[in-house]
Amino acid sequence: MSWNPENYEKFKAERFQPFEDLVALVRIRPGLKVIDLGCGTGELTRRLADRLPESEVLGIDNSPQMLEKAQAQVRPGLAFERQAIEQVSGRWDLVFSNAAIQWVRDHESLVPRLMSLVRPGGQLVVQLPRGNPAMEMIPQVAGEPPFCEALGGWTQEFSCLPLYSYAELLNRSGAGEMVIFEKVYPHILRDAGAIVDWYDGTALLPYLERLGDLGEAFKERYRQRLHSRWPETPVFFGFQRVLFAATRKQAGGHRAPVDGGRVGNVARC
Ligand SMILES: C[S@@+](CC[C@H](N)C(=O)[O-])C[C@H]1O[C@@H](n2cnc3c(N)ncnc32)[C@H](O)[C@@H]1O
Repeated sequence: MSWNPENYEKFKAERFQPFEDLVALVRIRPGLKVIDLGCGTGELTRRLADRLPESEVLGIDNSPQMLEKAQAQVRPGLAFERQAIEQVSGRWDLVFSNAAIQWVRDHESLVPRLMSLVRPGGQLVVQLPRGNPAMEMIPQVAGEPPFCEALGGWTQEFSCLPLYSYAELLNRSGAGEMVIFEKVYPHILRDAGAIVDWYDGTALLPYLERLGDLGEAFKERYRQRLHSRWPETPVFFGFQRVLFAATRKQAGGHRAPVDGGRVGNVARC
């Protein structure tokens, strides 16, 4: 898929806040070996690297357009490479990913795989968006004529499991300490049309790429749909995101079950 770094950066300030919340979950120590999955333009990878003293940070992404832009961020201790998140290997003190793994399917196998890349005592630290009513309108529009015919019924799936599922997967994959939460980032946008601009740099991309000449009509239909649902100006756009950080247990590390191993009824409140 062809990413457009300029479109993605339109809402840079709004996209920085969840990154800051995510970095706050990182246990900062000197000399870490770090990988940033889906690093995009590399600007946030650089911010991360600048906070990790004497560390070696590698940003990976599968978009040549994003990686070309990321070259401007290269410095000693910070490099970028073309790689797919699904193919990443090696052992890392910190596996970090901001707003990228929603593009990868099957989190039931992805999360354990990412945990297996983390060295004992290291961390997996991830942020990903949860769907919202404005985003859910995109596949609805894609299901209408003439777009449905042009797309052959195809719609893009974004992955995001319930919080409890991530907790279970992390626990089963050797996590000790973990923090998992969901947060709504409230944005006040000019009008509902600005939501089209927001998604122009991300969730609309795979549709626009497939629709070719029909792309503008698709965006216009989506814009109309948003305006009729949210006619007010300015418009409130609440963006929900999942954040989690899990530390891989040291070899031999063991945490007792919370009920001490007793089997039986548990309090329901
Ligand atoms: C929304 S951008 C986030 C970029 C950056 N992490 C940030 O926070 O600014 C998502 C990035 O994930 C990359 N991406 C999506 N699927 C990927 C995959 N399977 N493997 C590698 N990169 C992927 C895209 O190319 C894009 O640069």
